Amino acid sequence: MKICLLTIATGNYWRFLPVLRASLRRRFLVGHELHHLLFTDREISPSEHLHVVRIEHESWPLPTLRRYEHFCKAGDFIRNHDYCFYLDADMRVDRPVGTEILGELVATRHPYQSFLPPAQMTFERDPRSAACVGLDEGRMYYAGGFNGGTPAAFLTLAETLATAIARDRAAGITARWHDESHLNRYLVDHPPTVSLSPSYCYPEEWYEGGPPAGDEPLVPRIVALRKQHAVVRGPATDSAAAITLDPPRTDRPAVSVVLCTWNPRREVLSRVLESLARQTLAAAEWELVVVDNASYPPVEVALPAGCEIQCRTVVEPVVGLAAARIRGIREARGELLVFVDDDNVLDADYLAEAVAIAETRPDLGAFGGRTSPDFEGDPPAWLRPFYSHLALVECDRDAWSSKTYPNDVLPCGAGMCVRRSLTLAWANDVAADPRRLALGRTGATPLGAEDADLALSCIDRGHATGRFTALHLTHVIPARRLEFDYQVRLAHDLGASYGRLLAMRGDLTLGRRLRIQGRTILGWLGLKHRGPARAIDLAYYQGFLAGAATATATRRGHAGA
Ligand code: GAL
Ligand code: MN
Repeated sequence: MKICLLTIATGNYWRFLPVLRASLRRRFLVGHELHHLLFTDREISPSEHLHVVRIEHESWPLPTLRRYEHFCKAGDFIRNHDYCFYLDADMRVDRPVGTEILGELVATRHPYQSFLPPAQMTFERDPRSAACVGLDEGRMYYAGGFNGGTPAAFLTLAETLATAIARDRAAGITARWHDESHLNRYLVDHPPTVSLSPSYCYPEEWYEGGPPAGDEPLVPRIVALRKQHAVVRGPATDSAAAITLDPPRTDRPAVSVVLCTWNPRREVLSRVLESLARQTLAAAEWELVVVDNASYPPVEVALPAGCEIQCRTVVEPVVGLAAARIRGIREARGELLVFVDDDNVLDADYLAEAVAIAETRPDLGAFGGRTSPDFEGDPPAWLRPFYSHLALVECDRDAWSSKTYPNDVLPCGAGMCVRRSLTLAWANDVAADPRRLALGRTGATPLGAEDADLALSCIDRGHATGRFTALHLTHVIPARRLEFDYQVRLAHDLGASYGRLLAMRGDLTLGRRLRIQGRTILGWLGLKHRGPARAIDLAYYQGFLAGAATATATRRGHAGA
């Protein structure tokens, strides 16, 4: 599909262009032919998909009021495409925008106005203006920042609005919200065939306060950046040097998926690979690093035919998840590392969401999301309280914390996303510390705390950790892991490695230790759980205390040596 995108950037607005361009190239109708027509007073070098029309800068609000005149003049260019959209310069595309936006006449419901009763929406109500909307009309108010349609529909809109705005100007009238008021008049008469949610004009400030509670979940897709209107719309403050947009992409991909595997089940690994092949994040944006942790027979990675993901397999001969992860980290080139186990089936938007979270939340070092089970057997009822032992995490709202203990939102290894620099720092520390190397799961030993160690190391370096509902994966759980004996052993080992980790880190104060001891005693007395659950609970706390004790002993030993 050939898509034409129109943006006006005169005066100081060119400053927004690098961010806008970069985000468009990564997330706006990726896979389609996107031609961006820029109306600007600046000298901007055109490129294959960036076309520049020089216009004069005028004082506010003329640049916005005269936009439709410019669009009409570009009619021939616009008609050469399948669809045409207008997008404000001070926008950033934070999540993939796809063919859901295509339609004959497309408008975006206003992020603030569309939640108000129609009578309170900021339509122009002055009958002298061509934009006037009577109190008995106008059910929905649309934002001026993003709209479009087919070339025919869009150009008809542009011609009608250019004429109406010229008529107002001749009469000395400026409608309440300038061209946006005229757009809303037009849309009363010609209702859009596609009415986009405020996700497509998502105010940046909602990242802090959250969107208003409503019927539809609103995720940031096209974000309207917060700006200081007076500064941006004031006199140009910069030199007149030529601007080059679209620098060649850095050779570092946005994401490296690090998939560590040890004797995987072939059909499960295929499901994992298929889920990777289905990712909405463009293949050029990420790479797959498979670390075969000395499997026998060696792992063969077969991606579905036609899949363009850059994929490498490396063999790590030292068995153990920590060693495998370190190897993966050293191989990975991406800015964000996403650790995926050989039984983690990712939702299709997992990587795109991970990049969006990393880019918009620079405080976060490590984060994860929700994990739901695909049980290959019937889970017994007593297992319910211990789903977290199988890395099954529920998460019904976004939450983050920079506390080391207690931290209820520490991401688990399955699907964990960590910034590159933090993974490298962790890998260097751990590679030099056999005690931390031993924390990880080794071969058939069920589970370790190397993932908690990695997440906590990010907190130690001043970053937060968190869990986000937008990230979801499915964890395949074989029937064997639902058995009682396995669960007891798992709980014990999990407790032991976590206890060891906390003691080693010095996070276990006397109070915390006593609390754990108290829970163990409650467990003995059968006050917390009964039946099989009681045994699993006890195994965990016994493991925890034992692990904590060995770590304390080695610490003392070290100190004395
Ligand atoms: C504001 C927005 C304006 C205009 C107005 C309509 O939030 O910044 O551009 O859309 O709402 O009420
Ligand atoms: Mn697993």
